[in-house]
Amino acid sequence: MYILSSRFIKLVNPRSPPLPPGSYGWPVIGETFEIRNLCRSGKPDEFIKTRMSKHNKDIFKTSLLGEKTLVFCGSAGHKLLFTSEKQWVLTCWPKILSKLFGDSFLTAPYDEAIRTRKVVTGFLKKDLLQELVQRFDKVCKKRLEEDWVGKDQVLAFSLVKKYAFSTVCDVFAGIDDPNWQCKLLEEFNILLNGVFQLPIYFPGTRHYKAVKSAEVIRQELIKLVKIKRSTKRNNSSDRVEEQNLISYLIDEKDEEGSSTMMLVIKYLAENPEFYHLVLEEQTEIAMSKGAGEFLNKDDLQKMKYSWNVVSEVLRIWPPVQGTFRKAIADFTYAGFSIPKGWKIWWNPNSTHMNEDYFPDPHKFDPSRFERETPAPYAYVPFGGGPRMCPGRDFARVEILVFMHNLVRKFRWELVFPDEKIGVDPMPLASKGLPIYLYPQTHP
Ligand code: HEM
Repeated sequence: MYILSSRFIKLVNPRSPPLPPGSYGWPVIGETFEIRNLCRSGKPDEFIKTRMSKHNKDIFKTSLLGEKTLVFCGSAGHKLLFTSEKQWVLTCWPKILSKLFGDSFLTAPYDEAIRTRKVVTGFLKKDLLQELVQRFDKVCKKRLEEDWVGKDQVLAFSLVKKYAFSTVCDVFAGIDDPNWQCKLLEEFNILLNGVFQLPIYFPGTRHYKAVKSAEVIRQELIKLVKIKRSTKRNNSSDRVEEQNLISYLIDEKDEEGSSTMMLVIKYLAENPEFYHLVLEEQTEIAMSKGAGEFLNKDDLQKMKYSWNVVSEVLRIWPPVQGTFRKAIADFTYAGFSIPKGWKIWWNPNSTHMNEDYFPDPHKFDPSRFERETPAPYAYVPFGGGPRMCPGRDFARVEILVFMHNLVRKFRWELVFPDEKIGVDPMPLASKGLPIYLYPQTHP
């Protein structure tokens, strides 16, 4: 009785802060279609921006994917979410994503996610970057030779995806069967098309197709792990780690890198001056190496300008449009009540595309990272704090190795200079970014 009454007093106490302002939109669908349409039309920052100016610049409420959600904005909002895991919030995902991804790393319960996180970090440490760089370089050279060389025109997105998928399959799963890779890649495309769709489970809908593809992928991965188990005599904990790592990597992680590499190609085509600066940097590295010598991790350290180009792509087009948390206690933030149990979302666009943190935010300007270091928690394509992406070094190696090999081999032009970029759920060019290829003439 006492607990009930004290809870009631707290709820009705006129001095307790109000809920954040905002709108839940339509019944059931909430504001899901609004954000989805803005994302697809290439304006993923508009949803947040308009609500920050209409409701509150620090926080607003909405309803997404069938759940009431609070959106934390700005570097202070990011800081709170990234640094209060297990104190105020816990990483979690909307129910609809759990259905698609099952017990994948994305949606796993806290303890399992932490274990998996350790596996990814441990694997990358164990394998050491040195080894990773060389293996990526080998895969990349092979892919360029087989898929790009001798062509006048290619579809950039499908080929970078093939490269990214090959690195994951080849480096981590030890599979270089092109038929298996193609089959799985097709299923992943269908799965990805169904992410962030309303869960309408009816033949023909994107959600329905995605659920079916998720099942096919799961079965293929189970088969793969069985084959690996029968051919490798490792101990049981290694096997669990291996299964987790393979499913996670293949499950998800080729997408973010592919989207970023595709956009690097686009921006370098649109800005020849940036292309030449990247080429200059990469040529200097290539000239310092012997014939047939692969890249190493020291070479990657020298790719500073190239990384600024990537960083600027990740700022304007972050492949992950934020992640979700759940409040695990009642607390107040920015003068508003945050009730226990509520879903919380952060989105990098609240700082990346915000004049207060990045002047002229829509301008593609890699040198902004030379001029000044972004404010803490303002530049967050990989998240931040203890749940920050553990695969960022993997992604860095994958992308820089690709840039090195691509600019050394080719110049290129966009077939459709006005091709639109939409976010669904990753940034993608509407026609797959076809480009004209010209062999590079260099020393
Ligand atoms: C450009 C490429 C990538 C981007 C932009 C990216 C971004 C992110 C973001 C924003 C998060 C969520 C952080 C949070 O909720 O605070 C995340 C989580 C995660 N990423 Fe990445 N990621 C990329 C590639 C990768 C790769 C290649 C791997 C694996 C090798 C990976 C493994 C993970 C894992 C395991 C988590 C979950 C961490 C946890 O829950 O503690 N990521 N990533």
